[in-house]
Amino acid sequence: MFGKWFNWHRADRQINEQSQEQNIDMDRLPQHIAIIMDGNGRWAQNRGMPRTFGHRAGVDALRETVKNCSDLGVKVLTVYAFSTENWKRPTDEVSTLMNLIIEYLQREIEEMHKQGVQVRFIGDIESLAAPVKSEIERARARTAKNCGLILNIAVNYGGRGEILTASKRICEDVTQGKIALNKLDENLFAQYLYTGDVLEPDLVIRPGGDYRISNFLLWQIAYAEFWFCDVLWPDFSSKHLVEAISDFQRRNRRFGGVNNKT
Ligand code: FPP
Repeated sequence: MFGKWFNWHRADRQINEQSQEQNIDMDRLPQHIAIIMDGNGRWAQNRGMPRTFGHRAGVDALRETVKNCSDLGVKVLTVYAFSTENWKRPTDEVSTLMNLIIEYLQREIEEMHKQGVQVRFIGDIESLAAPVKSEIERARARTAKNCGLILNIAVNYGGRGEILTASKRICEDVTQGKIALNKLDENLFAQYLYTGDVLEPDLVIRPGGDYRISNFLLWQIAYAEFWFCDVLWPDFSSKHLVEAISDFQRRNRRFGGVNNKT
């Protein structure tokens, strides 16, 4: 299943050449890219295969995207691997996804470590089954000191749940006198989220043809730019990543203000 041959050096060249062709300004890269990896099921069904086949192909696209973001110098990449709503899927699909997370971490962690990638996880990790929890902890600890790309993998994650959990923890800390209610502002609130002190995403990419946010990073995306495409996640490549970044660099971000020149 991880049989797809992947040449790291060829990938390097491709992303660099494509960035040059698209005139990507390396000084104005999005610092944090968040991706909703959608379309695995349809990709498989289009080939007459079970949905789980699409998730396996999705892992290849993830591996390539991590490498590309790391080579470009993106600071943070957050990917939506499993939402709190995904438990509603058939049991065999859920267990394939959990096993894929385990296999991905076991097979990729040393290569990511070499690349300086720091792997983190966001979501309700405590409630996961022991095998996936221990692999997550191993990957986190192995790469914790790395200073390259921060790869945030969202597992058992939901944006509303995250805000609720943060709110409960804040209430506890207020009750116990650890923080004063009048000191609570947006910055302090954000520190109670799973993403803690990580920069907010400035670009959210959703392949797969749907135009929704699916309970992903609801607080953090307040001023993110969105980029949607019809390509299904397993077919997402460096070409699409560069297109998204190029489009991002043409956006006029005002953060609720006005242009300096107007
Ligand atoms: C959405 O596509 C995708 C998911 C729910 C899972 C994403 C998981 C991976 C890419 C692989 C596993 C992740 C890791 C970190 C190893 P969908 O199933 O909703 O597709 P559809 O919209 O075509 O049905």
